[in-house]
Amino acid sequence: MLQHELLMLVAAPLLVLGRPVVAVLFAFHRDDARSLSRLARGPRFRAVWRAITHPLAAWAIHAFALWLWHIPLLFDATLRHEWVHHAQHLSFFGSALLFWWSLLHARAALAPVGAVVLYLFTTMMHTGLLGALILFADTLLYPGYLATAADWGLTPLEDQQLGGLLMWAPGGLVYVAVALALLVRWLRRPEAAASRSPRPAAAFAARALPCLAALLVLPACTEPPLPLAVAGGDPQVGRRKTSEFGCGACHSIPGIAGATTRVGPPLEGFALRNYIGGVLPNDGENLVRFLLDPLAHNPRSTMPKVLADEQDARDIAAYLHTLR
Ligand code: HEC
Repeated sequence: MLQHELLMLVAAPLLVLGRPVVAVLFAFHRDDARSLSRLARGPRFRAVWRAITHPLAAWAIHAFALWLWHIPLLFDATLRHEWVHHAQHLSFFGSALLFWWSLLHARAALAPVGAVVLYLFTTMMHTGLLGALILFADTLLYPGYLATAADWGLTPLEDQQLGGLLMWAPGGLVYVAVALALLVRWLRRPEAAASRSPRPAAAFAARALPCLAALLVLPACTEPPLPLAVAGGDPQVGRRKTSEFGCGACHSIPGIAGATTRVGPPLEGFALRNYIGGVLPNDGENLVRFLLDPLAHNPRSTMPKVLADEQDARDIAAYLHTLR
C-alpha cells in the first residue's frame, strides 16, 4: 500500500512539476517521436486531452480509480494476476498524473486558485475517508495481501491498519502542503510578475530536480513484493508450521531455523519458480494440492506425504509464496 502512496503522492506530482515531456520524446526514435507529436497536435487528441485535463474531470477520474481498486474483490485480484496488478498501478499512476497536471498546470480561467484548493481539499477528504475505513475495519479487507505482513513482523490486521493510517495522515499532509504552496504563490502574484524571468540555470533546475527526485522514487513504487495469494492461508502461521512439520529435514528454507539440508530442492526464491517439481504451474491452489499429496500431482515425485490437513497446507503454501 505504501507503494501506491508513493506513486500517487510523490512520484506523480514531482514528474508533473518537472514536465519531462520533451525528454520522454527523446527516448523514441526520431520518426516515432515526430508522429507522436503530430498525433498530440491533432484535433481529436486535443479534444480528448482538454476534456480529461479539466480539473473536475481529472478529479473524478482519479477518485474513481482510487475507490474502484480498493473494492476488496478487485484488490485481491491484483495479487492473483500480475496483469491486474499492472493495470492497477497504471491507473493509479496515470490518473494521479492527470490529477496533478490538471491542478498544477491548470489554465487559470478553468481553475482559479480557490477551485484548485477545493479539489485538493476534497481529495484529501475522500482519500482520508478511505484510509479511515481501512484503518478502523476490524476484519481483513484484503486477505490475499497478508503475505507481505510477514516481512515486517506485523500481524495481517496490523499491516492493513498501517496501510489505512498512511493513506489517512501523511497522505492528507501532501494535499495540504500543495494547497498552501499554491496559496502562497497566489498571494505573491504581483511580486512574481514584477520580477524578471528566472535565469536559465534556475529554470532548468526547477524542472530537472523534481524529475530526478521522481526517478529516485519510482523504482521503489514498482518493486514487486507481489505476494502470490493463497486463499485462506496465513504466511506467519505457515512459517511456524513449516518449522514444526520438519520440512527443514530435507529442504533448505529461508526464515526457518536449521533448515539447511539439501535432500530435496532448496526453497529459496520459491515464489518466483514457474513450476512445482518442474511439472505443476506454481500457483497457490496447485501448491496446496501438491503439498497434500505430492505423488498424485507429480507421479515421479520423491517428496513424501507430510501434510494431511488442508489448513496446514494453505498456511505453509502461503509462507512458501513469500519466498522471493
Ligand atoms: C524426506 C524429505 C522431505 C521432506 C520431509 C519434505 N520434502 Fe519437500 N521435497 C522433497 C524432495 C526429494 C522433493 C523433490 C521432488 C519433487 O520436486 O517432486 C521435494 C519437493 C518439494 C517441493 C517442490 C520444490 C520445487 O522446486 O518445485 C516443495 C514446494 C516442497 N517439497 C515443500 C515441502 C514442505 C512444505 C515440506 C514440509 C511440510 C516438505 N517439502 C517436506 C523431500 C522432502
